[in-house]
Order: sequence, then C-alpha cells, then structure tokens
Amino acid sequence: MRRAIALASNGPSNGVNPQVGCVVLNSAGTIIAEGWHRGAGTAHAEVDALSQLTPEQAQGSTFVVTLEPCNHTGRTGPCAQALIEAGVAQVVYAATDPGHASSGGAQRLRDAGIEVLGGVLEDDVEELLEEWMLAARLHRPHVTVKWAASLDGRAAAHDGTSQWISGPESRARVHEQRSAADAIVVGTGTVLADNPSLTARTPEGELHDHQPIPVIIGTRNVPGYALVHQHPLEPLIIGHNDLHAALSEMFDKGIRSIFVEGGPTLASAFIASGLADRLYVYLAPVLLGGDKVALGELGVNTLAERIDLEISSVETLGADIFITAKPTRKDE
Ligand SMILES: NC(=O)c1ccc[n+]([C@@H]2O[C@H](COP(=O)([O-])OP(=O)(O)OC[C@H]3O[C@@H](n4cnc5c(N)ncnc54)[C@H](OP(=O)(O)O)[C@@H]3O)[C@@H](O)[C@H]2O)c1
Repeated sequence: MRRAIALASNGPSNGVNPQVGCVVLNSAGTIIAEGWHRGAGTAHAEVDALSQLTPEQAQGSTFVVTLEPCNHTGRTGPCAQALIEAGVAQVVYAATDPGHASSGGAQRLRDAGIEVLGGVLEDDVEELLEEWMLAARLHRPHVTVKWAASLDGRAAAHDGTSQWISGPESRARVHEQRSAADAIVVGTGTVLADNPSLTARTPEGELHDHQPIPVIIGTRNVPGYALVHQHPLEPLIIGHNDLHAALSEMFDKGIRSIFVEGGPTLASAFIASGLADRLYVYLAPVLLGGDKVALGELGVNTLAERIDLEISSVETLGADIFITAKPTRKDE
C-alpha cells in the first residue's frame, strides 16, 4: 500500500478526480504491475495497471489500491466490474470512496466472490486526499484562507498600503500555494484596492505551470482595466455575497479546492460562516498598529464563543513565521 500511495502522488493533485495508485501482486507476492490515475478522462489506476497484464496474469492476482474501486460509469466504466471480469482473487484498498455515484465498489466485488480488505493505511490516504475527500463529502470546495499580517495582526497600514508586509520567502511560498489550488478567491475590495493579477508566479516572474482560476466575489463592478482580466484563465465573477451559493457554483464548475487571499472582510466572512477548513497565516516581524486588522467581524461576542484553532505547523520563512491551523469548531 505504501508503494501504491507513492504511485498515487504521481497524478495531478488538482481537479475533479482524486490521486489514486495501484499495485498488482501475483499469488507468490511479486509485484507484476503498477498503475496510477493521470487525471479526469484518463484510465483509473486499476485499469491502468490491468492494461499491463495478460489475461492469465490478471486471473487470480491481488490488487492493492489506495481508494475503493469505483462502482460507477463516468467517462470510463466501473473499475469494480473490470476487476471482476479479469478474474482478480483479492482486492485490498485504503480509503472508502465517499462519492454518492461511485461508492459501493467493495460490495460489488464481494458479491462477485472476490476477497476484499478495506481500511489498510486509510489515514495516510485520507491525508493525501484531504481536500478532495472533503469536497466529495460536503459537495463544496475545500477552503484555505490565507492572510499576511504584521506581528500585531494588521493586514495593512493606516493608508491601506499592504504590499508587501511579508518577505520574499513567504511570497514565493504563497505563489506555490496558489498554484496548488483550483481557484484563488478575493473580494471586490481587494481588486479595487490592489488590482492584483491573481496569477501564480515564480520569484523570477514566470507563470507556474498550473494556474488557479481567479474568482472575485462581491456586488461591486470589477472595472475593465483590472489586471485580473489579463489572467490566462477567464475570471469567475460572482456578483453576490452568499458564500454557500458561491461555493456551490464553484463546485459545479469542477473546482475542488480554493485559496482565499483576502482581504479581511472576505476572510472573516468565510471563517464566521464555518467555511474555512484551513488557515495559512504569515506573520512578519513588523508592527503597524492602527485599525486595519487582519480579520474583522467573526460573530464572536464573548470569549465562550471564540473560534478554537488547532495549530498543525509553525515554520520560519526568511524573517517571517508561517502558521498552518485548522478551526476546530464549525458553524455549518
Ligand atoms: N494582508 C493580506 O494578506 C491582504 C490580502 C488581501 C487584501 N489585503 C488588503 O485588504 C484591503 C481590502 O480589504 P477588503 O476587506 O475590502 O477586501 P475583500 O475582503 O477582498 O473585499 C470585501 C468585499 O468582499 C465582498 N464580499 C463577498 N462576499 C462577502 C461576504 N459574505 N461578506 C462580506 N463581504 C463579502 C463585498 O463586496 P461588495 O461590497 O462589492 O458586495 C465586500 O465589500 C486592501 O487594503 C488590501 O490591500 C490584505
């Protein structure tokens, strides 16, 4: 299974399909094929591995796969059926398929007389597919909210200037995080104040291979001169303030992970609605004072209503501190 997980990581981590890896063993326990999924519209990991085997080799083999074989006909046929037809003897998988349409593969295999063992290294696969799993379960994209602030928690100076509070190492990391997401999301306030291009770039200014779809939420007009119109992908402009509806709209467009980059009003709205799954906080060794705080209204009136966080990691990036945290209370 560890080998299958390593193979899974070869596939793209963005988009509507999960990363899945597969290893096939013969009855002597020797690996005879390996496969992984290369993205929507291509063969699933089991079918990729199966394609490398003769019918004789497949007969009686053991498939070790990171995700329960699917039970659904999409762009490709159900993997469970392909394994049954190949005469596989045993299937070992890690995580259960959370999809409504695609689940039930394990039962279908058992019904066909195949020995099935699930849950092997399940936590490792849940971690690998954290964003995809959450999106599949909740039918909305996984939400990371990021902000950069002074050590006293200000996201901008008194006059509104905020570029750049954090240092070059932090900014390079932010661009990698943008590139890892399906979409980058800001409010109209940030577009009007900063006119950001919302691309993911290297420190040398080159575009990363994978670009997030730029998404702007808010009722105010995005002006024609806004740099976001020059983004290689067409911006998605959501002209209202309903975040649940906005997430549904993004999910329907195939967006499974979003990176919310500001500003304070939109970041606070996501957190207050219980829609922030992960926080990325960059703290720079500067003090700004004043009223431009990194977060505004969170619906917390008294300490008992506080939003507790679990800190997952703390890193030093140049002179800055980078904290990853998860809210432990959800208001959904
Ligand atoms: N330090 C950082 O990490 C960072 C990052 C980004 C921006 N900034 C700074 O933040 C400042 C801009 O702040 P901002 O708060 O105005 O920007 P913002 O959060 O990007 O935009 C606020 C706007 O978002 C819209 N919105 C959409 N859904 C909403 C909801 N559910 N609740 C509330 N608003 C919603 C509203 O637009 P409508 O009014 O049009 O409906 C609202 O006015 C700038 O000074 C910028 O430089 C700092």
